Amino acid sequence: MKHKNILAISGSLRQHSYNSAALQALSYLAPAQINIRIYSQMDQLPLFNPDLEDQPIPALQNLRNALSGADALIIASPEYAHGISGPMKNTLDWLVSGEEFVNMPVMLVNTSPRATHAQASLREVITTMSGNIIESACVAIPLLGSELDCQGIIDQPQIAAALRHALDKLYCELKELD
Ligand SMILES: Cc1cc2nc3c(=O)[nH]c(=O)nc-3n(C[C@H](O)[C@H](O)[C@H](O)COP(=O)(O)O)c2cc1C
Repeated sequence: MKHKNILAISGSLRQHSYNSAALQALSYLAPAQINIRIYSQMDQLPLFNPDLEDQPIPALQNLRNALSGADALIIASPEYAHGISGPMKNTLDWLVSGEEFVNMPVMLVNTSPRATHAQASLREVITTMSGNIIESACVAIPLLGSELDCQGIIDQPQIAAALRHALDKLYCELKELD
């Protein structure tokens, strides 16, 4: 079985974020051939400013390096006022001018199925950045208001099955793309 390295980014900075918990759960649920690394320096990225693009920004360099070494990207991000979360959009803006994102297979995790605006907007942004959204691997799981943390998600059979299924689909698509 060919090994796949996947980078995961949560669009929430909240300590008890459902989106971050979903990514942590995915990393535990992933089969042996999938390694999921969660980017943890989003809060160290400055507000996007093209004037700073040539400056050494360690959190950005680490993100670019992680993306360069990744076979796919998983994004789980909340909706605020019908839009993409500011931290997530800021992170994507920093990646617009680089090569790392181009043709990157992307799986979207929506932890609040009612949040359709942000998901639609994320799709538009990712497509504009030449990312490759793997629709069969995109998944919506009802975490909003559930009080579930990472372990709670893993312990919920239906939610854990939906996450495993999405990862299986992603892995199949990545094998097709090889
Ligand atoms: C200021 C604010 C605005 C929000 N706006 C929306 C919204 O427009 N649509 C929606 O579905 N949820 C909205 N929410 C709910 C968040 O998306 C929800 O709390 C989500 O779980 C946050 O993500 P996290 O748990 O990963 O931090 C809003 C929450 C806050 C605090």
